[in-house]
Amino acid sequence: WNQTWIWVGHICQIPNPGDFFRFDYGPESILVVRNREGIVSAFLNLCRHRGSRVCVESSGNKSVFSCPYHAWTYDLDGQLRMAKEMATCFDKKTHGLLKVHLKIFQGLIFICTAQDPPDINKAIEMLSPLTLPFRLERLKIANQKSYLVSANWKLAVENYMECYHCAAAHKEYSRSHSLKDPASITSDLMTSLYDASKMAGLSNTNVSINGVEVEDYDMDVYFARYPLYSGYQTGSENGEILAPLLGDLKRPFGGANDLQLGIQNNFLIYSDYVVGYRFIPFSVKSTDMQVVWYVHQDAKEGRDYNKNDISWLWHLTSLDDERIINTNQEGINSFHFVPGPLSEMEWGIRAFYISYLRALGVRSGFS
Ligand code: FES
Ligand code: FE
Repeated sequence: WNQTWIWVGHICQIPNPGDFFRFDYGPESILVVRNREGIVSAFLNLCRHRGSRVCVESSGNKSVFSCPYHAWTYDLDGQLRMAKEMATCFDKKTHGLLKVHLKIFQGLIFICTAQDPPDINKAIEMLSPLTLPFRLERLKIANQKSYLVSANWKLAVENYMECYHCAAAHKEYSRSHSLKDPASITSDLMTSLYDASKMAGLSNTNVSINGVEVEDYDMDVYFARYPLYSGYQTGSENGEILAPLLGDLKRPFGGANDLQLGIQNNFLIYSDYVVGYRFIPFSVKSTDMQVVWYVHQDAKEGRDYNKNDISWLWHLTSLDDERIINTNQEGINSFHFVPGPLSEMEWGIRAFYISYLRALGVRSGFS
C-alpha cells in the first residue's frame, strides 16, 4: 500500500492558508498543508533530526511546524527554518520535511509515498467528465466513521470488490440497489437511467477499465453509473432525497455512480450525497474501514439534512461488512483453508489480485 495512491481527504478540510490535517496509516503519518499562496502539499510527519513526529495534532492552523523534541522548526513548505546550535557547516536547505506525491482530483486529495508512483493522471482524465456534474470540489463533510476490523486489509478490499454477498448480508442495501453488474441490468431500467442522465446532462456511461481489460492504465480505475430500484431516488430508508442536490443537478437522476481510483479508494455518488470508503491497514490483522459522507458545501445540518439520515444506509451496511470480514478472517486463519473458486459476480476480486501483484512488481499468471 505504499506503492498506491491513497485518498486522504478533501480540500474542504483546509480552506485557508496555514490549514493542515494529519493522515495516519500503518507506520506512516502524513501532513497535508495549505501554504500562504494557497498551494496544497503533503509531507511525511517525520522530523529530519532524530525522527520524532513533528505534529501531534490531527488538524488545525499553523504558521510553522515546530518539532516537540528539540524544536527544529519547519515552514508551511516543509523547509527547515530553525535548528538551534548546529555546526556551522550544517545545511538547513537539505533537511526539510520529506515531500510525498499529492494529486487533487476535483477536491479529493490523494497521496502516494512511493518514489515513483503509478500514473494517476490518465485515470483522472478519464474520470473527470463523468464526475464533473456532481462538482465534487464543492462538498463538505457531513459525517465520518471508522470500522476497525481484526482482519488483513486485503480481506476488507476483497469484500468491497464483490456484491455476491449483498443479498445474504445487506438487507437494507438490497432493497434499493441492484446486486448485479450494471452491464446486466435490464434494458428498461437502463432506458429510464438514460433519460434521467440526459436530463442531468450526463452521458449514460458504464465504463469498466480495470487493469484487467485495459493494460494502459497503471492503476485501478472503475466507473459505473446505474439506476436504483423504482421508488428510490437515493440511498435512503424511504427512497427520498436527503440533502440539496449536488453540483449542477437540476433534479435527482435516480441512480448511483460507483467510482474507484486506486486499490483502496472507493466512492459512491448519489444525487444528494457522496460516500467515500478507504481501507487503511494498521497491522497485518488490523484494518480500519474509514467512511466519509459528503454533502453539498452550502447545505446546513438540521436545516437541509440530517446527519443520521445521510449515514443510515452505509452505516448499517458497514456494520454488516465489519461482521462478515471478521468472520472471514477467523475462518481463513485455519491451517486447513484452501481458496475455493470464485463466482462470476466476484470478477472484481480477480481484478484486485492482478492490481495487487502489479503493485508488487510481479506479473500475474491470471489470464
Ligand atoms: Fe525533531 Fe529533534 S527529533 S528536533
Ligand atoms: Fe458489503
